[in-house]
Amino acid sequence: MRIDILTLFPKMFDSPFNESIIARAIARGLVSIFVHNIRDYTHDKHHQVDDYPYGGGTGMLLKPEPIFEAVESIKEEIEGTEMPVILLTPQGRLFCYQIAQELSAKPNLILICGHYEGIDERVREHLVSDEISIGEYVLTGGELAAMVVVDAVVRLLPGVLGSELASQEDSYVGGFLEYPQYTRPRIYRGWEVPPILLSGNHGRISKWRREQAIKRTLKRRPELLEKAALSEEERRLLGKK
Ligand code: 6GU
Repeated sequence: MRIDILTLFPKMFDSPFNESIIARAIARGLVSIFVHNIRDYTHDKHHQVDDYPYGGGTGMLLKPEPIFEAVESIKEEIEGTEMPVILLTPQGRLFCYQIAQELSAKPNLILICGHYEGIDERVREHLVSDEISIGEYVLTGGELAAMVVVDAVVRLLPGVLGSELASQEDSYVGGFLEYPQYTRPRIYRGWEVPPILLSGNHGRISKWRREQAIKRTLKRRPELLEKAALSEEERRLLGKK
């Protein structure tokens, strides 16, 4: 997969993409990430990327020309039919696991980080194919949101996690939150690991984990259980029909 990111603050991306799993995915050629400075696509002496809103109002808006030109020059480098251009904005559709899966199936993504008070509407209307928000709060810019999206998408690419099975155990995959996990020591400050995990009985361990996952989901995110595939017995356990 190839990901291109347009931003006014390219340095913000240095450390998140140079550590841990994302860095390893890049090193192994599973994903290429190119960060472009929108300012490099201006032509005027002052490299102006923003301007006052027509009609008045507070704050500045990102100008359309550098963003259009950046996206067009990136598209010329990519062969491919489908090139999603995603604007990170609090007005976008709410990012979730399912959208991460959807994006991880694309051969390339172009992400535009919004800034200032907003962006000229013509970028939305004529350049962007999708708008994404990462939650119901306002960030100073789309950069952190782009990092969140890249992280969630890249970890789903084949070969990125140690095991192909790792992402299949994610919270949300089966509609449940994850079960509790323990490592050594068996007793820490008097707190013991549940003995069943040391029993070696894989059938009972699986059953216990599934029950724990369901209980945790019921307690924290009951709405997720509406869609989950539960057996009759499990529904009875929950006191549902
Ligand atoms: Cl994508 N951008 C900004 N600026 N704020 C946000 C956001 C995005 N998602 C949630 N808040």
